[in-house]
Amino acid sequence: MQKDIKHHNKLFIIMVILIMAVLCFAFIAIAADAKEKKAGSKGSVAEGEKLYKHYCTPCHGEKGDGKGFNADTLDPKPANHTDAVEMSKRTDEKLFDTIYGGGREVAKSTYMPPWGYTFTETQIDSLVLYLRRLCNCKGPK
Ligand code: HEC
Repeated sequence: MQKDIKHHNKLFIIMVILIMAVLCFAFIAIAADAKEKKAGSKGSVAEGEKLYKHYCTPCHGEKGDGKGFNADTLDPKPANHTDAVEMSKRTDEKLFDTIYGGGREVAKSTYMPPWGYTFTETQIDSLVLYLRRLCNCKGPK
């Protein structure tokens, strides 16, 4: 009888240790995931490039030079994102707002569509990073 209880106690302790180990792993996994999300919240050039090639090139062109196949029909013309002189006059915030709210938001042509309902803020951050890659320039301080 005595032996039996001891045996049960041992099993119980092993169970508790196992459950704690599982909880520990779960916690580490969640923490790592949260860290990854935080680090990724600024977006990436690669993501921006992918989105740009899919959504922006019909007007802004494969090279970002404003010569997309829709450009002929547009007046004013789509912006040339490789123009470092012009692009370095825009802050990252301004570019973000232009993408988010479209031309209307920044008193430009409404042919530039708003994308705030299409993309997450992180995706728009990625697009801004890619625009900076295209112009090879930085915004004003
Ligand atoms: C239907 C055509 C069209 C599409 C698609 C389009 N744009 Fe535009 N975009 C324009 C036009 C036209 C302008 C010029 C507006 C002006 O000069 O008044 C413009 C201007 C801009 C500007 C402003 C540049 C400046 O001078 O400050 C940015 C930034 C921009 N577009 C980014 C994007 C991004 C990023 C995408 C894809 C997510 C995109 N556009 C998709 C037509 C388009």
